[in-house]
Amino acid sequence: MPGNYKVIEHSYDVVVVGAGGAGLRATFGMVEKGLKTACLSKVFPTRSHTVAAQGGISAALGNMGEDHWRFHMYDTIKGSDWLGDQDAIEYMCREAIPAVIELEHYGVPFSRTAEGKIYQRAFGGMTTHYGKGQAQRTCAAADVTGHAILHTLYQQALKHQAEFFVEYIALDLIMQDGECRGVLAWCLEDGSLHLFKAHMTVLATGGYGRSYFSCTSAHTVTGDGNAMVLRAGLPLQDMEFVQFHPTGIYGAGCLITEGVRGEGGYLTNSLGERFMERYAPSAKDLASRDVVSRAITIEVNEGRGVGPLKDHAYLHIEHLDPAIIYERLPGIAETARIFAGVDVTQQPIPILPTVHYNMGGIPTNYKAEVVTLKDGNPDSVVPGLMAIGEAACVSVHGANRLGSNSLLDLVVFGRSAAIRCHELIKSGAKMKPLAADACDQALTRFDAIRHASGSRSTAEIRLEMQRTMQSKAAVFRTASTLNEGKAQMAQTQASFADVRVQDKSLIWNTDLVETLELDNLLSQASVTLHAAANRQESRGGHAREDFPQRDDENWLKHTLTWMQQGEVKIDYRPVHLYTLTDEVQAIPPKERVY
Ligand code: FUM
Repeated sequence: MPGNYKVIEHSYDVVVVGAGGAGLRATFGMVEKGLKTACLSKVFPTRSHTVAAQGGISAALGNMGEDHWRFHMYDTIKGSDWLGDQDAIEYMCREAIPAVIELEHYGVPFSRTAEGKIYQRAFGGMTTHYGKGQAQRTCAAADVTGHAILHTLYQQALKHQAEFFVEYIALDLIMQDGECRGVLAWCLEDGSLHLFKAHMTVLATGGYGRSYFSCTSAHTVTGDGNAMVLRAGLPLQDMEFVQFHPTGIYGAGCLITEGVRGEGGYLTNSLGERFMERYAPSAKDLASRDVVSRAITIEVNEGRGVGPLKDHAYLHIEHLDPAIIYERLPGIAETARIFAGVDVTQQPIPILPTVHYNMGGIPTNYKAEVVTLKDGNPDSVVPGLMAIGEAACVSVHGANRLGSNSLLDLVVFGRSAAIRCHELIKSGAKMKPLAADACDQALTRFDAIRHASGSRSTAEIRLEMQRTMQSKAAVFRTASTLNEGKAQMAQTQASFADVRVQDKSLIWNTDLVETLELDNLLSQASVTLHAAANRQESRGGHAREDFPQRDDENWLKHTLTWMQQGEVKIDYRPVHLYTLTDEVQAIPPKERVY
C-alpha cells in the first residue's frame, strides 16, 4: 500500500459527504428510512457554508399575495435562460411547498406576518401570472435564513441519532467496475485514514467559489466532491455558468442579501441615477442576478462608477424605517458596519458583483443519481453515486439561478436522495467485494502531495489561479480573455507539480488540507475556462461580448467536461424540455409548443 498507511475500514448503507443543508437533510432522511448512514464533514456541521445564506427560501405558499407553484416553475425555467431541466424544475417547485412546511414543523424560526404566517419577501425574477406581477415568494427568517435552517437541520440529525465523522476530509471516491463503492477520508484530529464502504455515496460538498479572488463563499468552499468526480473519470456539467451576486461589499466581497432590494433597497451610480430603470424597466432592481450584475459592470465600465476609483456602485436603504431594517435586515446592517464602515440607516453601502454560486457541477437526475454520457445514453446512471446541493447540476438552475432557489434545492434534493436510497438499498445488504488495491490510487495522490517539496507555496499558486479566474472568467467574457485564461491556468496547474508542503505531519495539518483543496480548485478552474471558451453564445451567467445573443439552435444543450491526463475533453447532453406531469405528457409531442 502506498506510503504504508493503515486504513481503518467502515461499512455503511450510505455515506454522505458534507453536512450543509443538503447533506444534513439527506443524512437524517436516510436514517429515518432505516438506512445505516455516516455523514462526513471537513468542518463542524453548523459551520458549513449554508449558514451564510441570508435572504430566504422560495416556495409558492401565497402567504403575502396570490401565488402558484406553476408561476414559480415558469420563473425558474425563464431565469435559467431555458437551460434548466424542466422535469427537475417542476419537481422542485411542486415540492417546495411541503418542503418549507416541513422545515416549519422541524422548528425553523421563520419571521411571521401579522396573522402568524411565514413571512415572504420579493426576490429577483420571482413573478406571478407568468411575468405579469411581482411575487412575494421568498420565505425568510429575518436575513439569517441559512443559519436558521442549518441549525434546525442539525438538531433534527441529532434527534435521529445520525452518525457524524466531523473534521474528516474526503480524499477520493473509491470506484470499481464503473461503480462507486465508497470514499477514502482523512481524520484531521488524529491523522488516521478511513475507508467508508457504502452502497451509496452522496456528495453534498458545495460549490467552488474559492477558485475566484472575490467571492461570497467561505474559505472551505473548494468543490472537493466535483474534483473527486473529475479524478474518477466522470464529467462535470455546465461549468461555464458562474453566478455573480450583484451586491457583494466592495473590497471585502461579503454578501449583502438581495432581500435588501426585496424590502425596497435600490442601486445608484455616480450620477445618482437609479440605473436599473434603464436596463430592466419593469423589474428594475429586482431583475434577475445576471441582469443586475451586468448592469453594474456596464455602469462602471462606462465611467459612472462611484468612489475615488469610480469602480463600484451604491446600494441604498437609508430611506427605509430603521425599525424595519433592524427587524428584517439586522444581519446586513451589522455586516455593512463591520466590513464597509457604513451605518445603513444613514449611508449607502458600496457594492460590486461578486462570485456567489456555481450553476455547474456533477450532473444528476431529479432523484439525485449521478448521470453521465455512456454508450450514447446521456442519462446513464452511475451506480452507487449521488450528488445534491450546489455540488450537483440537476439542472434546476440552468444558466442562472434565481435567488432563494438554492436553499430550496438543498432541502428538496436532500430529501429526494433519501427517498431514492430507500427504494434502491436493502439495509445491511452484503457489500460487493472490493479489490485489495482499491485505495492505492487515492493514497498515492495523498502521499505525493503530503511529501511535495517543490519551490512554490500553496498560497502563491492559489493567488495566481484566483487572479486569472477573476480577470479572465469575469462577468463579461470574450474569446481572447478566455483563451488567455486557459493558457495561464494551464501554466498555473502545471506549476502545482512544483508545490511545497512544509508540514509533513498528519494531525491538523492545515498546510496539507489547503494544498489538497488547491489541487481540487485547479481542475475546476481549468474546466470552467475551457467550457466558457467553448460556448459561443450568451446565456444566463455566461455573457460573451463576442457572441452577445442566446443561440438556441446551436447551444440549447448542457456542456459536459472531463479531465483526462490533464487535458479537458468536451461533449454535450440534451436539456430536458419535458415536464413530469401527465397534464403535459398527455399532449401529443407534435402539438407541444416547446
Ligand atoms: O441574496 C441573498 O440573500 C442570496 C440568496 C441566494 O443566493 O439564494
